[in-house]
Amino acid sequence: MIFFGLETSCDETSWCLAEFNKTGHQCLHLTTCTQQVHEKYGGVVPEVSSRQHIEKFQSHFDEISDLVSKCDVIAVTEGPGLKGALLVGVNFASALSISQNKPCIPVDHIEAHLLSPMINSELNPPFISVVLSGGHTAIFFVEENLNLRLLSKTLDDAIGEAFDKIGLLLGCGYPYGRNLAVMADSFDGEILDLPIPLKGDVNFSFSGFKTAVKRLVSELQFLSDFHKHQIAASVQNALIETVLEKLRLIFKTFGEFPVGFSGGVSSNNFLRKKLTSEFPHSKIFFPPESLCLDNAFITCFAAFKKLKRGKVEIRLPKVYSRWKVATNH
Ligand code: KG4
Ligand code: ZN
Repeated sequence: MIFFGLETSCDETSWCLAEFNKTGHQCLHLTTCTQQVHEKYGGVVPEVSSRQHIEKFQSHFDEISDLVSKCDVIAVTEGPGLKGALLVGVNFASALSISQNKPCIPVDHIEAHLLSPMINSELNPPFISVVLSGGHTAIFFVEENLNLRLLSKTLDDAIGEAFDKIGLLLGCGYPYGRNLAVMADSFDGEILDLPIPLKGDVNFSFSGFKTAVKRLVSELQFLSDFHKHQIAASVQNALIETVLEKLRLIFKTFGEFPVGFSGGVSSNNFLRKKLTSEFPHSKIFFPPESLCLDNAFITCFAAFKKLKRGKVEIRLPKVYSRWKVATNH
């Protein structure tokens, strides 16, 4: 079965053609365009993002139409995310679905992330899913039938946002979070002892941590290159320790199930190294490196997995900005 997928939940415009069958999958085409334009604003501007999605679809219209003509079904992210950005993808998918007479499967973006460690791996439900993205931070128990039980969530900001905001503060270039990690990895000296937020609690919180780092930076008269690197490494260490601490608590309460990490922060090298050294006997899975950040292949993959379990609705997509994967958020 051939899927055409669209993803426009934030600042990546992505489309994909992928074939799925009983034995595996083949990615036939994947384009992911990251919108660099937001660099000059110091973060993603929703209105600008929507316009960029439209421009990308207009300039690639013939190529996309041709790909859609080859698919059996269209999958599109309908939420959560920036409403205007989602509307562009959803309206485009609806138009393609109607004009080319192809069924449409709406996909939840968090579900797309949390199923992504199953790509090219032996991971299968039941498993513990740790979603670490720019907009969401949560831990789920994924049951055999793909039903989700929320185990932990952030009470305020997402971990990726903390990486981004502190990266901006330290003068890292765009994308701030990824560049903060690069700066941190290149530091070899002594790191600062920063507070670990919500220690002993299974939930996450990053807003107080961000304020603490802001205060630390503002107390320095001059932010030298050494300080920048030292703070970046200390911040990365504290943020990743937060994740490890939640995993220890979850293992203690629920037992050592296999774990799937996903979302942009799951590409962090320091996180991967720490997990390997602290949990050498646990089964820990990540999406392929190129599929950690937002892309339309994970949209197709989630649609396929849910279709296989009889858990999708075939209908025109709606749009929602807030998360509805777990009901108690
Ligand atoms: O999952 P994603 O592509 O988008 C959302 O759905 O939000 O994640 C983007 C987030 C950004 O906040 C970015 O700072 C973070 O992932 N990120 C990283 C790294 N690469 C991307 N955070 C830490 N280390 C990285 N190497
Ligand atoms: Zn995402």
